[in-house]
Amino acid sequence: MPRLSSEKFYETLNNLSGTDKFNLQQPKKRNSPLKKYNGLYKKKSVSPQPDNLYQLYLEKPTIRVLNIHAHNGCNLACKGCNHNSPFLAPGSSLNVDMMIEDIETILPRINVWSHISVLGGEALLEPRCEEILTAVEKNYNGRIKLYSNATLLYENREWIVKHMNRGVKLYVTLHLNPLSKSGKILYKNVEKFIKYAKDKTELEDHLHLSEPWDESWFDIVKHEGDKIYPYNDNNIDQSWNNCTCPNPQLYSGMIWKCPIIAYLRETISSTGQLDDPAWKPYLQYLGTPVDAPIEDLFEMADQTLTPHKMCNMCPSNPKWHFAHIQLKGVKNKVGQFLHT
Ligand SMILES: C[S@@+](CC[C@H](N)C(=O)[O-])C[C@H]1O[C@@H](n2cnc3c(N)ncnc32)[C@H](O)[C@@H]1O
Ligand code: SF4
Ligand code: SF4
Repeated sequence: MPRLSSEKFYETLNNLSGTDKFNLQQPKKRNSPLKKYNGLYKKKSVSPQPDNLYQLYLEKPTIRVLNIHAHNGCNLACKGCNHNSPFLAPGSSLNVDMMIEDIETILPRINVWSHISVLGGEALLEPRCEEILTAVEKNYNGRIKLYSNATLLYENREWIVKHMNRGVKLYVTLHLNPLSKSGKILYKNVEKFIKYAKDKTELEDHLHLSEPWDESWFDIVKHEGDKIYPYNDNNIDQSWNNCTCPNPQLYSGMIWKCPIIAYLRETISSTGQLDDPAWKPYLQYLGTPVDAPIEDLFEMADQTLTPHKMCNMCPSNPKWHFAHIQLKGVKNKVGQFLHT
C-alpha cells in the first residue's frame, strides 16, 4: 500500500492530538495534601520521537501509543472520562487469556514508539492485572505505564512495586476533590502507598502523580436523561482536534482506533441502546484483527494519525466542566463483546 512521505508523516504526527496538547498540569495544586511530593508530578505523557522514526514506520506498522485494558469497569464515574468507563460497573471484565494471546500475537508485528499503557476502567479491579502487565513486559522493550485511580493502590502495593523496579511507570490519577469525604480516603491511600514504596523503589523515576480533579473536561457523549447520543456535529476535523485520547486500543482480538470506538458496544449496552438507530452508523466500524495481513495493519496504523468519519460522534465544540464531577446511576455490569 502507498506509504506517507517522510514530510507528510511528520506533519501528521506532529498534529496528532492527545492529553499533552491539553496538559494544564499544575504541580502546585490548591489544597492538595500531596503537593509536598512535587517531584512526582508527570510532565509530558508522550516520549520524544526516536531519530529513526520514519525508518521504523516504513519497516513495520508503527503507532505512538497502545492502550490495553485490564478491566473495562470502574469504581469511579468521572464525567467526561475518555474511555466511557463511568457506564461500566466493576465486574465488567474482559477475557484475560484472550488478551494475553492478543498481546503475544500483535506486539512482535508492530512498533509502538512512545509507550504502552495498561489501564481501564480501573485496571486494579482485575485480579489478573499483573499477568497482563507481565505479558506486555515479555513482549515489549519500550516504556510501559500502569494507570490507576488509586482506590486499590495500597492493597496491590507489593506486586506493583516489584514491577516498578523492573521499569514499569506507575501513573496515579486523582479524580476526587481531596477535601471531600471520599477524596480524603483516596489521598490517604496514596500517602500510605508512598510511605510503603519510598525505600523500595526510586519513586521519582517510577511514580507519576496527576490530579485532574480541578481541571476541565468535557462530555464525550451527549447526555439526554439516562441515554447517551453521538454529537453528529459534522465537523470531524474539529472533533479530532479536541480529542484527548486518539490512542489505539487492543481489545477483543483487534486493534481499534480509540477507546470510545473499541468499547462502544459495551457502553451503549449499559444504557440499553444497542438497537438505538442513533448509534447504528458507529457500530459499523470494527478494529483490525491482530492476525490480519500486514498490509491491513499498516493501514490501521495510518488511520490512527488522522480523523475518521467515526470522529463525528465526538463534540466539535465541547462544553467544559470540572473533571471531579461523578455521574450517578449510570453503571451496569457488561461483559465483553466478541467479534470473531
Ligand atoms: C481512562 S483512565 C483509566 C485508568 C484509571 N482509572 C485512571 O483514572 O487513572 C486513564 C487516564 O486517562 C485520563 N483521562 C480520562 N478521561 C480524560 C479526559 N476526558 N481528558 C483528559 N484525560 C482523561 C485519566 O485522568 C487517567 O490519567
Ligand atoms: S478516568 Fe475516572 S471513570 Fe475513567 S477510568 Fe479513570 S477513574 Fe474510572
Ligand atoms: S472517535 Fe475520534 S475524536 Fe472521538 S475519541 Fe475516537 S479518535 Fe478521538
